[in-house]
Amino acid sequence: SIKAVIFDMDGVISNTVHLHYHVNKKVADRLGISFSEEWNQKLQGLSRRATVQAIVDKSGLDLSDDEFEQCCETKNSHYIELINQLTDKDAKPGIRSFIEDLRGIGMTMVVASASQNASRVLSRLQLLDYFAGVVDVTKLTRGKPDPEIFLKAAEMVDVSPAECVAIEDGDAGLTGILQTEMFSVGVGSEPSLIRADLTLSQTEELTVEVLEKALNKQE
Ligand code: G6P
Ligand code: MG
Repeated sequence: SIKAVIFDMDGVISNTVHLHYHVNKKVADRLGISFSEEWNQKLQGLSRRATVQAIVDKSGLDLSDDEFEQCCETKNSHYIELINQLTDKDAKPGIRSFIEDLRGIGMTMVVASASQNASRVLSRLQLLDYFAGVVDVTKLTRGKPDPEIFLKAAEMVDVSPAECVAIEDGDAGLTGILQTEMFSVGVGSEPSLIRADLTLSQTEELTVEVLEKALNKQE
């Protein structure tokens, strides 16, 4: 039976994908290349450095280490300004009641986000207290699409991967989950989410009932 639910954050819990778009675009602008919402969606789940690296690669520019660090710094300083304005209204639709219902049935919840700002975002949304833990990404050796972050989340709460549900909106994260024994849930518009055990197009559809039905079918 399921003992823990592991959540990606950006795009699943927090309505912050467009904020990442905004700051990633600043990096692209700086390098003189165009940026799109579609590309930003593809980059979801990658670390800050991996995201900047992808944009630098596309630009074809040969940046010095210093210039690269400046791009990372630009992205994060603007991002912090944006997330400091978040309120409890910036949770994705339906997600607060889903989390409350999970708590109601005694479910353990953990956040597995590639963002170093995850705890700050969750506290702005007044959701931090619901979680038994937030994985410290600075202590990981490999980022998404590697499964390490999800396995670490399960380990933090002493639950085996087969007893976990893991929820993602991004391609990289889902690729990681699929390498574990966890029951995978893909939520959002990214086409590759059809690979998940349960795929939903919007967070509003994510309810305990829908999840339980899908889990029962699986047995
Ligand atoms: C998540 C988001 C990415 C973001 C990354 C790093 O994976 O999906 O869009 O670039 O976190 O976030 P950070 O807050 O550490 O810059
Ligand atoms: Mg995400």
